[in-house]
Amino acid sequence: DNVEAGAGYAKIILLGEHSVVYGKHAIAAPIPLTIRADVQRQESGTTLFIPRWGVETELHPPTTADNALHKSMDLILQRLGVRDEPMRVEVYPHVPRAVGLGASAALAVAVIRGVAEAFDIELDDARVNELAYECEQIAHGTPSGIDNTLATYGRPILFRKGELPSSAPAIREVHPARPIPVVIGLSGVRTLTAQTVGRVRAAWQAHPERYEPIFDQIDQLALAGVDALEQGDIATLGELMNIDQGLLNALQVSCWEVEELVQIARENGALGAKLTGGGGGGAVIAVAEADRTEGIAIAMRRAGYDTFITEIR
Ligand code: MEV
Repeated sequence: DNVEAGAGYAKIILLGEHSVVYGKHAIAAPIPLTIRADVQRQESGTTLFIPRWGVETELHPPTTADNALHKSMDLILQRLGVRDEPMRVEVYPHVPRAVGLGASAALAVAVIRGVAEAFDIELDDARVNELAYECEQIAHGTPSGIDNTLATYGRPILFRKGELPSSAPAIREVHPARPIPVVIGLSGVRTLTAQTVGRVRAAWQAHPERYEPIFDQIDQLALAGVDALEQGDIATLGELMNIDQGLLNALQVSCWEVEELVQIARENGALGAKLTGGGGGGAVIAVAEADRTEGIAIAMRRAGYDTFITEIR
C-alpha cells in the first residue's frame, strides 16, 4: 500500500456524475488536494479540530449543529472500536468544502486512516472504502460510492456501483496515455450533493421514461472517455465532456455561474468543459492543451472566479 497514513484524496468526475447513482459508468480522477488527519491519543476528551473550516468541537456528547460531520466521526470511532478512547483528531483540508470536489469523502478517509494509525489498527483499502461509504451515506443519503472509492484509492478509475447496496463496486483503473491538463474553476455557489441528487431522483421517479435515456447516453460518454484518455486524445475527451454538460443541463443540475465558467473556458481554448460532482454550483473542469490552461484560468479569474490548474496522470 503506497497510501499515506492519514490522507484522503479529493477528486474530479470527468464523465458520469448523477447517472452513476443509477448504475451507469463514471470516470473519476484524483487531484493533488488531499485532506490530512493527524490523530493523537490524549488524557481525556475526544476533540475534533479543523482550523481551516472553523471547527473545534468535543465529539462526546455531540453538541454542534454540524450533525453529519458528528455522526460520521462517531461512526468511524465506533466501527474501529475506539469510541471510548480519548483522542485529538486534527484535520488539515486542502480542499474547499461543498464545491463538488469530494471533500466529505476525503475527510472521512483521512480520519479513518489517521485513527487506524494512532491505534495500530490494520485496515486494508477495501475496508477503508466500506467505512467511508457508510460515512457518505450519512452525508448524502443515496451516494453511488464513487467519491469514497476515489478518496480511498487516489487513482483514475472507471467506476460502476454494485448491483445491490451491499455488493462491492466494479472498479477499473484508467491509465491516461499522457498527462491531461485540467483547469478547475470554482463557481462560488456552495451546494449539497444530497440536494441535487434528490432533485434528479424526484424527476426520474415522476418520469423514468424521460430520464433513463439521458442516463444511458451519459453511460456511453463515460465508456468512450476511457478510450480517449488511454489514447491521450484530449480533443475527443473534451467533446465528450461538452456533450455531458448538455445532458447535465438537461438533468437541471447546472446554474448560471457554471454556464458562465463553461463558456469562458470554451472561448479561451478549452477542448471541453463541464460541471463536476453534484452541480447546482460547485466546480467546473476544463481540459485543454497545456499551453492554453493559463489563459483559461486568467479569463476565469477576471470574471471573479477562483481557479487552479492541475493535471490528470
Ligand atoms: C458526486 O460527486 C457525484 C454524484 O454522482 C453523486 C454520487 O455519485 O453519489 C452527483
